[in-house]
Amino acid sequence: MGIYFDEEKKIFKLDTENTSYLIGLTGEGYVGHIYYGKKLLRTGGRYLLRTEKSPSVLKREKSSFLDTFPMEYPTCGVGDYRESCLDVMNPMGQTGCEFFYRSHEVIEGKPALKGLPASFGKAGETETLFIHCEDPVLGLWVTLSYSVFMKEDVITRSVKIENKSTSTLVLDKVYSACLDMDNRDFEMVSLAGSWGRERRIQRSALSYGRKNMSSVRGESSHQEHPFMALVTPETTQDQGEAYGMHFVYSGNFMAQAELGQYDQVRAVMGINAWQFSWQLLPSESFQAPEVVLVYSDEGLGKMSRSLHDFYRNHMIRSPYVFKKRPILINNWEATYFNFNTEKLLDIAREAKKAGIEMLVMDDGWFGKRNNDNCSLGDWVVNEEKITTGLKDLVDKVNEIGLEFGIWFEPEMVSPDSDLFREHPDWAIGIVGRERTQSREQYVLDLSRQEVVDHVYECVAKILRSANIAYVKWDMNRQLCDVGSAVLPQNQQGELFHRYVLGVYQLQERLVTEFPDLLLENCSGGGARFDPGMIYYSPQIWCSDDTDAMERLRIQEGTALIYPLSCMGAHVSDCPNHILNRVTPFSTRGNVALAGTFGYELDITKIAEEDREQIPGQVEQYHKYNHLVQSGDYYRIASWSSEKPYDCWAVVSKDREEVLVTCVQVLASPNRNSYCMRLKGLDSEKLYCLEETGEIFGGDELMQCGILISGLSGDFQSKLFYFKSVETM
Ligand code: GLA
Repeated sequence: MGIYFDEEKKIFKLDTENTSYLIGLTGEGYVGHIYYGKKLLRTGGRYLLRTEKSPSVLKREKSSFLDTFPMEYPTCGVGDYRESCLDVMNPMGQTGCEFFYRSHEVIEGKPALKGLPASFGKAGETETLFIHCEDPVLGLWVTLSYSVFMKEDVITRSVKIENKSTSTLVLDKVYSACLDMDNRDFEMVSLAGSWGRERRIQRSALSYGRKNMSSVRGESSHQEHPFMALVTPETTQDQGEAYGMHFVYSGNFMAQAELGQYDQVRAVMGINAWQFSWQLLPSESFQAPEVVLVYSDEGLGKMSRSLHDFYRNHMIRSPYVFKKRPILINNWEATYFNFNTEKLLDIAREAKKAGIEMLVMDDGWFGKRNNDNCSLGDWVVNEEKITTGLKDLVDKVNEIGLEFGIWFEPEMVSPDSDLFREHPDWAIGIVGRERTQSREQYVLDLSRQEVVDHVYECVAKILRSANIAYVKWDMNRQLCDVGSAVLPQNQQGELFHRYVLGVYQLQERLVTEFPDLLLENCSGGGARFDPGMIYYSPQIWCSDDTDAMERLRIQEGTALIYPLSCMGAHVSDCPNHILNRVTPFSTRGNVALAGTFGYELDITKIAEEDREQIPGQVEQYHKYNHLVQSGDYYRIASWSSEKPYDCWAVVSKDREEVLVTCVQVLASPNRNSYCMRLKGLDSEKLYCLEETGEIFGGDELMQCGILISGLSGDFQSKLFYFKSVETM
């Protein structure tokens, strides 16, 4: 059993296999946070609530009590001056609220969150605690929910707000989770970047005040990521404490840690309150998205592995989650907009010879789209390019022996499109202001049901018309000029969130009508790579940057929190189209093998010696992909920190097999080998290195390491595959 209530001590104890989370109730009914960390044998630690100044003991000190009390869900305006999680305005326009425990219930399993992506789990895998609280002045109720995923050491939280009063209330901020703790010299680990260099890992100490990662761009963004980990200074990959918080949401977010006057840390996460307000009519409720909490006392590596297991087992619903994905070839970097049926068929024929399994037709197949300045919204096949129609093209590609995939950017409209000419008010915009263009496009107002319905039908109609096995769903600009032509004045603050709900509705309908479809999300590369999107698609395009060296950093940051099987990764041509860098074809293959694997090049034109390597890479994919798919990930060395090389491993769950990838980013003079100490093996087992047949002990590989040699020059790489042989 994962959830226990100690009646006498008024403590809830939530246990996973290795962690405990303790919540305590005060006499007044405040719901306080006692402890989160390594598993405790008994309920305890109540003194951490520091209730000696609680209002029932000393009313005159209520404010100093509230300003130090470790609150499970802090509210605003009544004496806690730290960041609140909930701001509510009453009908007089005054802001303040305060909640008191009323009841609780525990259920097996976990209910879905209406309209939102969220983790799932059956009885036996998870249990859920609901704590119902009331603000008697406002007539507002809050239900705090906690689901405990025992095996993965994850606890998820979310919040539902219900207006049981007779007046309309306005929610000006609704975060989903808070973690109040005494400071332990915490440092924040987060992911930051830009287009072409998403999710680089950064780490820095907290100092007094607030430090946050956030987005106001209408999507989770290239720039900052809805994740943070608080770690102790000694935390490395393999040791030390790490508290991870990850938001299951794809729009504006806030992830913030605040170090306060009493050396307490308050970490909060939720929908960004900037330009957010939500009108809650009597008897209406608001469901906030979910936050994933994970604790590791074995460093960041253990945190990553817990999250990988959690997302694979409890967030990605796709039937592909544990399946080998077809090796695809995408024509974007091969042709950009300049293609037609013949060109695609040429690529397909050559790809088939090399063992590639799917052709993906990227941007440019619809409307009059020969460059990126028109036609988004006009989802009708351009028969000047696809001369015999889409169905015929798909059939021919299928006859060649490849599956077929297609690109869409359904949320957008070009000013130069029939759709915009017909429905100019369907684009998001502010009255009287010329809309800001980005890549010469506008964003559709997905808060409107008729727009969502129209967009859905456009996509579904194409999918119904031919044998399409895969969709790449793109979103190539961020939101601004945020106004809806139909929302009333007092609901304009709902647009950002309603937009995201519209996206979720679209993808939900898509995977419901086409359950076998392989969906890959994308946003100008990896700007909407978040746990919300992996609920719908088992893979997301990591970045438009396909340079193998840059990818090392992007994939390291992504793999810190997402399973490798989510990372869309392709081999592209050189010189790289973004960086102009030339890297060996073999290294490009080895780096892409760490993700979904595919090609993004004109296979009819690349150098013969590169093309000849493809069948070998395809074979490696078939041989090793099960490890990438479901193995345990270990980061061994990192180019982005201090090393001239990058190294990671994936170990099968039964520790029978391991694939190690090592990339020498920069060669150094007078040095011909590196020693890499492997991780995660069984020290009792013997392992055979496939390449040479040499036998090593698991302990030997982990303690003495392996010697990496023979890498001559920059950007060289090597794979090592070990399989266990009979134990001594
Ligand atoms: C985005 C994607 C690319 C490609 C282009 C097409 O940038 O990330 O992979 O699909 O759009 O316009």
